[in-house]
Amino acid sequence: MPRAVIQGIGHAVPEGRLTNADLERMVDTNDEWIRQRTGIVERRISGPGETTSMLATAAAKEALQNSGVAASELELVICGTVTGDMSFPSVSCLVQDAIGASHAGAYDVGAACAGFIYSLASATAMIESGTMRKVLVIGADTLTKVVDFTDRSTCVLFGDGGGAVVLAAEENTDRGVIKTVLLSDGSGAKHIFVEAGGTRHPMHDPASQGYRSTIFMAGAEVYRFAVKAMGDACCRVLDLAGMDASQVDLFVPHQANLRIITSAAQRLNLPDEKVFLNVQNYGNTSGGSIPLGLYEAVQSGRLKKGMVVMTVGFGAGLVWGANLIRW
Ligand code: UT7
Repeated sequence: MPRAVIQGIGHAVPEGRLTNADLERMVDTNDEWIRQRTGIVERRISGPGETTSMLATAAAKEALQNSGVAASELELVICGTVTGDMSFPSVSCLVQDAIGASHAGAYDVGAACAGFIYSLASATAMIESGTMRKVLVIGADTLTKVVDFTDRSTCVLFGDGGGAVVLAAEENTDRGVIKTVLLSDGSGAKHIFVEAGGTRHPMHDPASQGYRSTIFMAGAEVYRFAVKAMGDACCRVLDLAGMDASQVDLFVPHQANLRIITSAAQRLNLPDEKVFLNVQNYGNTSGGSIPLGLYEAVQSGRLKKGMVVMTVGFGAGLVWGANLIRW
């Protein structure tokens, strides 16, 4: 069976920065509360006209360049996102055109903050089954476009960003995606959602006026779920691989909240030096969070060829999952 090996990685974040001090001037919050409860210091924020597909395209181009793979060789573009430029077509179709992937299919995966984990799983299955040999996998979101900047319980948490990897089939190697776990519980849909703009409350429907087109989140419920889900998904993916946490060289969790990450790392007995963190700089970038973390881990020399990296994420759905990868 061919292995799905990561050949190159790219990233993209908007230039705009929003600091805790900026937020203090916008809502009744303060730097100390935000740092203590979330670990976030600043986030990147897209400007008017700056869309998810623009970040996804920039990340994709860098990943292609770093991998030495030409866009024309790609057979598929997958993007994990819940903030499409439009309801449809997909972000991945816009990227396909922008990068000139003229022989590739394209689709989005709607798994919120677990979008990259789910997308990587789809791509891996395509490669391991022999259906395809070169796939571009992106995770990108611009959640600040659907944040209510008068709601202090959500607006301090989110930022914009994305990352991308080129996956290619390789034989006779132990590198590549080792195992993946994908889980969901739709009964938790009520804990985090954007209600207006879908088919339940269409934007143009007068009867739907008054419904929120911004994120609602029951923070405490999501927090409780996340702490358990992160640890569970990691234990399960390690179990499937017949490995234990001590064999993980680097842990790259979804960067939603420092306290959630710390509790997952403690459950797994992972020392600080194996836990990658950049939540302080970007906040929660949803589907962008994990590939952005992987990118920075590579750039800083913490993630090198042959190392075992474990990703884990959770988000609206509710969905959660984990990938175990030999880099
Ligand atoms: O990718 C999935 C996305 N979601 C998440 O990962 C979010 C998971 N949840 C969380 O990270 C945490 O629940 C939050 C960071 C959102 C909130 O932290 P918490 O420790 O659960 O705080 P809380 O919601 O229990 O609120 C505590 C207090 C409340 O005041 P009272 O009622 O105790 O007087 C809130 O009104 O903090 C208040 N509060 C704030 N104060 C200052 C809520 N937001 C803020 C704020 N600044 N921004």
